[in-house]
Amino acid sequence: MKVLALNGSPRGEKSTSQRLLGSLLDGLREAGADVTQHYLAQLDIHPCTGCFGCWLRTPGQCSVWRDSMDGLLAELEAADWLIMAYPLYVYNMPAQVKLFYDRLIPGALPWIVPHPTRPGLMTHPRRFAGKGRKLVVICNAGLCELEHFGPLKATLEYIASQTGMAMEALILKPGGGLLQHPLFQDFFAPYYAALTQAGRELAAAGGLSPETRAALAQEYIPIPAEEYYAQANAHFQQTLIEHGHDGTPPPTAPMPGKAG
Ligand SMILES: Cc1cc2nc3c(=O)[nH]c(=O)nc-3n(C[C@H](O)[C@H](O)[C@H](O)COP(=O)(O)O)c2cc1C
Repeated sequence: MKVLALNGSPRGEKSTSQRLLGSLLDGLREAGADVTQHYLAQLDIHPCTGCFGCWLRTPGQCSVWRDSMDGLLAELEAADWLIMAYPLYVYNMPAQVKLFYDRLIPGALPWIVPHPTRPGLMTHPRRFAGKGRKLVVICNAGLCELEHFGPLKATLEYIASQTGMAMEALILKPGGGLLQHPLFQDFFAPYYAALTQAGRELAAAGGLSPETRAALAQEYIPIPAEEYYAQANAHFQQTLIEHGHDGTPPPTAPMPGKAG
């Protein structure tokens, strides 16, 4: 089983995305999967120029750029699974990930045809007869409310349905600022273990068990959200002052020792 894993955080190796992705990949490797991982931010991926050369002049290949996407498209074609981890940026995916998605357009044919399973929708057929590639996305966000992931979730479900990739799991983790905090590693150990178990199950069974799915769906954080926000605001205040700026918080900001 071949896995292409992409970390879309600009923070690369130090990112919370990598802490989460790494746990999943541990399980996949342990169960024998052949895993290739890249950090998108370290690759050379130019923005699509919108020329449609990859459809009409050099079908299946970008007509403009010879960059990291040449290799990535080949790796994606060979992969059974695409596993991506990235932070929520402006309620959606970071620019590095959007660049990657835009540059997948050579994988579609230009023809406009009825969607095979969604009556009333048109789509572009896939250029390469796929083997039913599956997708897993792990996304963490700074804020604690799951609602912030709504636009990303809708986007990914739509992309999956239009590209024929089956979305096996969308793992959403709010309160990302706590996930790597040294004080909370014991607290999160079962969550990281559930990710590793998920990797084993993906490799061995091709999907997640209901138990693992339920463990990963938990949005628990080790402290009340109000305390998290108060500590974050205190940190912002201190850092602003250290840099010689005004550290006065807005009157509605939760701060340690103050209500609301
Ligand atoms: C440009 C930018 C946009 C962000 N947008 C959001 C957002 O819309 N919602 C949110 O909860 N956090 C947002 N965040 C916070 C990140 O999602 C959060 O810091 C995350 O834990 C970073 O994960 P990483 O270490 O994997 O990069 C944003 C951060 C940046 C730098």
